[in-house]
Amino acid sequence: MQKIEVKSYLEILDFSDLDPQEQALVEKAKSISQAAYAPYSSFRVGAAVLLENGNMLQCSNQENVSFPAGVCAEQLVLGYAGANYPQSAPIMMAVVAQRAGEDQWAVVSPCGICRQTINEVENRFNQAIKMLFLRADGKIYRIDGVENLLPLKFNDLKG
Ligand code: THU
Repeated sequence: MQKIEVKSYLEILDFSDLDPQEQALVEKAKSISQAAYAPYSSFRVGAAVLLENGNMLQCSNQENVSFPAGVCAEQLVLGYAGANYPQSAPIMMAVVAQRAGEDQWAVVSPCGICRQTINEVENRFNQAIKMLFLRADGKIYRIDGVENLLPLKFNDLKG
């Protein structure tokens, strides 16, 4: 029998430790989260993406009475980026969330389908995406690429 250990690396930073571009992306995600259509979960998510060409794009989650038809903020913004800027790699994504009626932010982390979507975009452009996830205490998880979020992903299985 062989055992392997899979490691992920992430950083935990104060907002003030982020550089101005990272701070701007988190702020964009915060403001777009208010546009969420989340009548079923009341969980309002904002995702903002920085492209290699300097553009910043943002989307919120959009739910559906038939639950599986709802779309996460990350999947929407990465789809929007690919559909409108097919020549420009997404290089950074910020994600934040807030429960409707609450003032404080909620901790957020992408679901499995979104991780697979991030993986697809990284492979498409051969470029890791830096990720910033806001926590309830205001600190930020900073993660360098999907390899830290999705071990043993499909395209790792060679041979
Ligand atoms: N959601 C996102 O949009 N992104 C995440 O990272 C976590 C979950 C959405 C899906 C659903 O509309 C609501 O938040 C509750 O799960």
